[in-house]
Amino acid sequence: MKFKAIIFDLDGVICFTDEYHYRAWKALADRLNAPFDRTINNRLRGVSRMASLEIILETYTGPELSEEEKAALATEKNEMYRESLKEMSPADLSDEVRETLNALRAKGLKLAIGSSSKNAPFILKQIGLEGYFDAVSDGNNISRSKPDPEVFLKAAEFLGMDPADCLVVEDAVSGAEAGHAGGMKVACLGDAARHGAGDWNMNSFSELLTIVEE
Ligand code: BG6
Ligand code: MG
Repeated sequence: MKFKAIIFDLDGVICFTDEYHYRAWKALADRLNAPFDRTINNRLRGVSRMASLEIILETYTGPELSEEEKAALATEKNEMYRESLKEMSPADLSDEVRETLNALRAKGLKLAIGSSSKNAPFILKQIGLEGYFDAVSDGNNISRSKPDPEVFLKAAEFLGMDPADCLVVEDAVSGAEAGHAGGMKVACLGDAARHGAGDWNMNSFSELLTIVEE
């Protein structure tokens, strides 16, 4: 086997909370009269909540905001976002992702999460994957968000693996850069795949089954 472990990003890879992020940021940006669209939204993928807010505020022209006001805006967005997460259930995990994960595990691979999100444990619980992964590294155990490799290096450490033995799976360009910065190969989906950011740029999640056998 080419790899011993796979580290998955969560939002946009395992499940599609990225649309909920977009809607919550859009509602906040509209309230602030800050132009925001899906092109700008692609820059938020993989980026921490506060760094995302700074990107939203690039088009904001209102009165200057204190750090306390910015923290309150990030909390407001997170509360809207978590309302959407409450609606999620195991039905939000596709058969393709569930079956591919089980098949990868059956090949002897260790499986981990490497997500910038502080909501990762809640999302995993909602979609029925609480306790499924061999390790979870997320926004709660890092101080630098993607494209810094910290979240993936921590995942490898939690697994007890050498980073070079781990494959990262990402939908964000910042996440693909983070994997490469950590000395890992990267398989991309979605936006990152469209940008050709990965060592493999996939159309569907199940392509991982052939990539690990190459
Ligand atoms: C990442 C998302 O998974 O988590 C980003 O791709 C998001 O868009 C980041 O900003 C932080 O998420 P949270 O849930 O901690 O606000
Ligand atoms: Mg993502």
